[in-house]
Amino acid sequence: MITLEDISFKPLIEESILKSRIQEIGKEITADYTGNQLHIISVLNGAFMFTADLVRHIQRPCNIQFIRLLSYQGTHSSGKITEIMGLNESIRGKHVLIVEDIIDTGLTIEYLYKTIVSHEPASLKVATLLSKPDMYRGNIKIDYLGFAIPNHFVVGYGLDLNGFGRNLPAIYQAIN
Ligand code: IMP
Ligand code: MG
Repeated sequence: MITLEDISFKPLIEESILKSRIQEIGKEITADYTGNQLHIISVLNGAFMFTADLVRHIQRPCNIQFIRLLSYQGTHSSGKITEIMGLNESIRGKHVLIVEDIIDTGLTIEYLYKTIVSHEPASLKVATLLSKPDMYRGNIKIDYLGFAIPNHFVVGYGLDLNGFGRNLPAIYQAIN
């Protein structure tokens, strides 16, 4: 058990399970991109740890860049996304793989997917460590998924609560 800002968390996915699943995804990506080079777009801040571990298991030439988005969820259900740090290299005609930490409401991935498609990549796929299938009802296909998890707030392995908890080597779930 751990506590962050008065919220208690219990272990959900231990480090060794994360590691072996990420290794499997890396092998899958390696096989799927035979003869191609990948352009990875990693979504900061949450995906930094997953990206760092995943790319070590991808045995293909990888161009890796980072993008940073902030989502503002107002009192209405429609959200707004602001690009804090945008794309710094052209992805036109490239094989692009988005790497995310978690797909929750899907707002972020929908924005990013549409934005990248408008740059006309040769192909576009999505890898995410976690998803909350109870929350996301959209149409974007998740090509590589680490784990589907219940609809609880989680921290660790890059995911945070107000900036803290990202350094935890495993995933923890809030107890309510
Ligand atoms: P979205 O709701 O799918 O747009 O998710 C937006 C972002 O919120 C994700 O990329 C995460 O960085 C963050 N997020 C969503 N769910 C959680 C969670 O359970 N813990 C920590 N961060 C989360
Ligand atoms: Mg994120």
